[in-house]
Amino acid sequence: MASKFENPWKQNPWFESVAVAQERARKRLPDPVYKALVAGSERGQTIQQNQDAFSRIGFAPHVAGHQPERTMNTSVLGQEIALPVIISPTGVQAVHPDGEVAVARAAAARGTAIGLSNFASKSVEEVCEANPNTFFQMYWTGDRDVMLQRMERAHKAGAKALIATLDWSFSMGRDWGSPEIPEKVDFKAALRFAPKVITRPRWLWTFGKTGQIPDLTAPNLAPPNGGPAPTFFGAYYEWMTTPPPSWQDVTWMAEQWHAMTGTPFMLKGVTRVDDAKRAVDCGVDAISVSNHGGNNLDGTPATIQVLKPIADAVGDQIEVLLDGGVRRGSDVVKALALGARAVMIGRAYLWGLAANGQTGVENVLDILRGGIDSALLGMGLSSIDQLAPEQLLIPEDFVLALGAE
Ligand SMILES: Cc1cc2nc3c(=O)[nH]c(=O)nc-3n(C[C@H](O)[C@H](O)[C@H](O)COP(=O)(O)O)c2cc1C
Repeated sequence: MASKFENPWKQNPWFESVAVAQERARKRLPDPVYKALVAGSERGQTIQQNQDAFSRIGFAPHVAGHQPERTMNTSVLGQEIALPVIISPTGVQAVHPDGEVAVARAAAARGTAIGLSNFASKSVEEVCEANPNTFFQMYWTGDRDVMLQRMERAHKAGAKALIATLDWSFSMGRDWGSPEIPEKVDFKAALRFAPKVITRPRWLWTFGKTGQIPDLTAPNLAPPNGGPAPTFFGAYYEWMTTPPPSWQDVTWMAEQWHAMTGTPFMLKGVTRVDDAKRAVDCGVDAISVSNHGGNNLDGTPATIQVLKPIADAVGDQIEVLLDGGVRRGSDVVKALALGARAVMIGRAYLWGLAANGQTGVENVLDILRGGIDSALLGMGLSSIDQLAPEQLLIPEDFVLALGAE
C-alpha cells in the first residue's frame, strides 16, 4: 500500500518564474558551469541593460471588457509555432546529460522550434529527430568548402532553416573573471575540478545516472570523413582564425543555403537600421535583432531599445525577431508590440534545463505562455496580432535608431 506520508520538505520541482529557475541553477550547477551560462563581456553593461530595458516599459490595462479567448500562434521561418517564442541557439555543454536533445523535446512538447548551435553538444541528426522544427545555426568559421559541408549535413538531417550568427568580436575579458573550462574531461581535469563539483551532488547524480561525463566536443563540426569532433576550444580556434565575413559573404551564404535547400535563411545579431537594410539586399528571409545576449561588444544597447526602427524599416520585407533579456511573457508582448514577429530565448531555457531537465524547459515555456496570455487579457486583446506600440507606456528617450539616415 502506498504511504500517505508526503515529505513536507521535498522541493517542488515546478518553479513559478525564470528568476527562481536561475536561483536553482546557481545552487545546482558547479560554479564554472553556472558562470559559463551567465557569460556577458567586459563590464557587463549590455547583459544588464538587455533585461533592465524591459522594465522601463509599462502597460495600461483595462478593468473590464476583456476577451474570453486569446490566441498566440504564429509562424517563424516557414514553421507554424504555438507561441511566439523559439529556442535561441546556445552551446549547453555540461548543463545536463541530455543537453540540446532535452531542449528540443521540450520545445516540441510545447509546439515550438529550436535553433541548434554549431557548438552544441548533441548532433543535428539527434536534435532533428527530437524536434522536426529545428533550425541549424552556424558561425562564419572554417573555409567555404567546410561551411558547405556543414550546411549539407544539417539539411540532410532535416534542419528547416539556417541561422547565421555573425555578431562576434572576440571580446574576452570580464570584470568578474571567466570560469575555467577544461579542454576535455579526462582524469586529470576531473581531479582538478573535483572540489568545485563535489559540492553539487544533484548535478553529479544527473550525470552519474547516465554513466556519462560532460562531453566538451562539438559533434556538428566533425569532418565528413568520420574523423573525431573537435573540442570546444579547437572549434573556437578555427573560428578565431577565420577572416571575418564581408556583406558579399552574407549574400554567398544565403544564396548557397537557398540553392541547396530552398528553405529560409536568418541573419542573427543585427542592431542597426542600415545593417538590417543591407541584410535585405543580401537576400535574407529573417533577422534577429540581437547583441548575442550581451556577450559581444559591451556597450551595445539593449535589443528592445533598437527594435522598433529596424522593424519599421524592414518588417514588411522580412521576418524580424528579437532576442536578449527575455525572462517573462510580458517581455515577449513588449517585443511583439514594438514590431517583432517572435522572440528567441537563451538563458531563460538554460536555467530551466539546469533546474529540471526537459521538464524545466517546458516549465519556462509555460511561464512565458502564461505571461503572454495575462498581458493580452489585461489589455483587452484577443490575439498577438493586435499588439501595437500605442498599447505600451514607453519613456521618451527609450527608442534608439542606430545607423538610421
Ligand atoms: C551560454 C551561451 C551560449 C551561447 N551560444 C551561442 C551560440 O552558440 N550561437 C549563437 O548564435 N548564439 C549563442 N548565444 C546567444 C543566444 O543565442 C542569444 O542570442 C542570447 O542568449 C539571448 O539573450 P538571453 O540569454 O538574455 O535570452 C549564447 C548565449 C549564451 C548565454
